[in-house]
Amino acid sequence: MPDNVLILAGGQGKRMKVKSPKVLCEVLGIPMLQWVINSCEKSGLSNICVVKGYEAEQIDAFLGDKYVTALQKERLGTGHAVMQAAEFLNSNKDGNTLVLCGDAPFVDTETITSALAFHNGNKNSVTVVTSEISNPTGYGRIIRNNNGISAIVEQKDANSEQLLVNEVNSGCFWFKTQDLIDILFDIKSDNSQGEYYLTDCITLLIEKGKRADAFKSLNPVISLGANDRKGLLHLNDIAREAVIDVHLENGVEFTCLDGVVISPEVSIGVGTKIQQGVTLRGKTVIGENCNIGPNCIIENTKIGNNVVLNNVQSYDAVLENNISIGPFVQLRPNTHILDGVKIGDFVEIKNSTIGKNTAVAHLTYVGDSDVGANVNFGCGAVTANHNGECKFRTEICDNAFIGCNTNLVAPVKIGKSAYTAAGSTITKDVPDGALAIERGTVSIKDGFATNRLAARNEKFSKLK
Ligand code: UD1
Ligand code: CA
Repeated sequence: MPDNVLILAGGQGKRMKVKSPKVLCEVLGIPMLQWVINSCEKSGLSNICVVKGYEAEQIDAFLGDKYVTALQKERLGTGHAVMQAAEFLNSNKDGNTLVLCGDAPFVDTETITSALAFHNGNKNSVTVVTSEISNPTGYGRIIRNNNGISAIVEQKDANSEQLLVNEVNSGCFWFKTQDLIDILFDIKSDNSQGEYYLTDCITLLIEKGKRADAFKSLNPVISLGANDRKGLLHLNDIAREAVIDVHLENGVEFTCLDGVVISPEVSIGVGTKIQQGVTLRGKTVIGENCNIGPNCIIENTKIGNNVVLNNVQSYDAVLENNISIGPFVQLRPNTHILDGVKIGDFVEIKNSTIGKNTAVAHLTYVGDSDVGANVNFGCGAVTANHNGECKFRTEICDNAFIGCNTNLVAPVKIGKSAYTAAGSTITKDVPDGALAIERGTVSIKDGFATNRLAARNEKFSKLK
């Protein structure tokens, strides 16, 4: 069995003033707990147990049944949280256990693996990962001696000399699992907060003649956790800048970073320009030489090369190459836009394919439709895909011309090179090459308006 991971996620986050578990608060749209799990899995650690407590069912719903969990019924401290996972530790006690805080999302693979090598190489019983930070307020201070470390002292228990130490506990520990089990229930709550501190393991293990040491991480943000809203915003700022830095190095152009938020898993090709107000979420992939923005939200969308998006929202869609979309367009899930398409202002497309070089210029809704190549939509065309109960598809074949204000009542098929006349409501299939027209007969009443005006003028002149 591989090494264990224990992620502490029981806290409420009182200082965060949130009604869900603090670890579900998001950094760049990803819950902090997920950041921590991702780093473990990238390090090859998959034997993960999450300690849940406050609103535990929300943690269950988030994790699904992929991970083992342990319930901490009352929050009595980080040491108490680990005690609740004793069964998990006992089930695999030959190797090491990595303990992490679910509210410190920037723990990284390099640190996890280097700290383990240090831990094993020095035959440590416990290795705490530390970092030096300019403002250590609130963190546990690392007290070093000639033989590793002697203690971790919490802010509230530290004397004035200890408060000057700026090497802090990141909350990430490697333990020899059996050694942790041996002293775990010796942790007492006789401190200023009346809590069972996991950090007390250091002195307990040393008292048993074991080795405790600290591994100082090169990652300057590893210790940063979010205890309140300000801290969470700070983590978002740090992550946002780090993600943008990577894209800058990769040859992505940013004109102004105002309102630009890019999730960590997004990929962007060389020469693409990202303008202000652009949010890129999920597993969005953008090709080369695109121009995205201003003001776009793009989520889980795959975009090819030479695509221009101006004021567009796109969710779970695929856009091929040489496409221009916007302004004010929404692409909803399962939209597939092929090469050379032009989509203009105030257009919504949902669960539809738009064929090569088709133009949807303005004020149009295309839902549940299969649209061919070189189709032209006039202004205000609507596919009526929903009859109040069921949804149906519309098929529009290559080279068709959909006149302005056409309603296409699905299920309906417009044949190849067929036309629909402006203002028509089409309820029957239109054969290839035909014109469908559905309008009331126009009746012209000569002189009606002139006569009416004359009558009104006469009435007013009598009143005077
Ligand atoms: C803890 C450390 C501190 C370290 C800091 C790093 C202790 C005593 N202190 O302080 O040395 O510098 O993390 O971020 O360990 N949790 C539970 N159950 C509990 C209490 C906490 O599961 O009863 C979880 C929380 O959800 C959180 C993590 O443990 O994910 C850390 O708890 P928190 O209260 O934030 O500890 P800190 O005060 O930040
Ligand atoms: Ca914390």
